[in-house]
Amino acid sequence: MKVIKVKPGRQVYEIRIGRGLLSRLGMWLREMTPAAKAVLITNPAVGGRYLETVKLSLIPQGFQLTVLVVPEGEEQKTLNTAGKLYSEMADNLIERSTPVLAMGGGVIGDLAGFVAATYMRGVPLVHIPTTLLAQVDSSIGGKTAVDHGRIKNSIGAFYQPQLVVADIDTLQSLPRSEISNGMAEIIKSAMINNATLFAFLEKNMDALRSLDPALLEDAVARTAAIKAAIVTRDEKDRGLRNTLNFGHTLGHAIESASHFKVKHGQAVAMGMVAAARIALQMNKFSLKELGRLKKLLHRAGLPVDIPALDIALIIRTMEHDKKIIDGRTRFVLPSAIGKVFISDNVSIQMVLKALESRDEEE
Ligand SMILES: NC(=O)c1ccc[n+]([C@@H]2O[C@H](COP(=O)([O-])OP(=O)(O)OC[C@H]3O[C@@H](n4cnc5c(N)ncnc54)[C@H](O)[C@@H]3O)[C@@H](O)[C@H]2O)c1
Ligand SMILES: [Zn+2]
Repeated sequence: MKVIKVKPGRQVYEIRIGRGLLSRLGMWLREMTPAAKAVLITNPAVGGRYLETVKLSLIPQGFQLTVLVVPEGEEQKTLNTAGKLYSEMADNLIERSTPVLAMGGGVIGDLAGFVAATYMRGVPLVHIPTTLLAQVDSSIGGKTAVDHGRIKNSIGAFYQPQLVVADIDTLQSLPRSEISNGMAEIIKSAMINNATLFAFLEKNMDALRSLDPALLEDAVARTAAIKAAIVTRDEKDRGLRNTLNFGHTLGHAIESASHFKVKHGQAVAMGMVAAARIALQMNKFSLKELGRLKKLLHRAGLPVDIPALDIALIIRTMEHDKKIIDGRTRFVLPSAIGKVFISDNVSIQMVLKALESRDEEE
């Protein structure tokens, strides 16, 4: 097992990463709290597979477990679902000291995290991320949210968990597309911060996609450590955390312009390539490194070229996001593999050129 400490503000919590961790959950929760009850929020896909193991771990430790199952999908990340969860918690006499366990992907993590942050002004939260994306990204850093109206993650709170338990074994049941989705964030972390991780991914991508547990544990731990270090230094997203948005400025626009048909990881992959092309136009990044990025994304099962989406629509979406000021927008751009810088000098023309480019010269 690998342990990473996150220290945002005055708090400290651990991310525990390894195999067979679900069966140790009861023991760890008992070390954390004398509470008689615990609430577990999950969805059918995850609960159906892993609930029994969690129950077998919690019940011997004297926890009376309330299980709340939320239907599948991002559509559930709403105030409406949160409202139902509050009611069920109140019906089950859940108290302020009762821990909430969020077991699932980022949707469950964000929703259950938001519920934990707000029910009785906050109850203890434990994240049990079960997707690759949730293990390396969404369970770390304390951002919780629901979607409202047309805007994703628009209602939320910074709320840190007391513990994150990333059981690598749960990744074995993930669909291949979800592995690629999480891989986009792993490659992003390597691009912004860690050339060694990038080289590790180049060496091991095939084995990682075949779900080699030891390598997955290594990749998750290295990536979680990068995010943990960044959120430790910038809990409330005031500067440094910006770098985590590498690939996301255009990525988000591509996602919305496609009406979310393009998945987040795929959109971020395209966004990273476009950002690298912008850096290339500025002579800050090399064609050789762009080639390495594209090759790695491709091997991760991710797209690199922007599909036949309406490019004008992507730009309009960015404008709508108010990310463009006076025809310019803030971008996180690579200066090398493992290094990024922030630029306020990216013009619409440069973005357009990057979106249309196919790097034929390679
Ligand atoms: N809070 C943050 O900082 C942050 C960061 C990134 C993303 N997010 C949010 O995370 C969400 C996306 O998360 P995601 O990519 O994990 O998607 P997700 O939660 O929808 O999970 C993807 C799919 O995998 C299934 N699943 C989960 N674990 C499984 C397992 N072990 N075996 C089989 N199937 C499993 C789910 O049921 C779902 O169908 C978005 O709502 C996004 O806004 C939040
Ligand atoms: Zn992302």
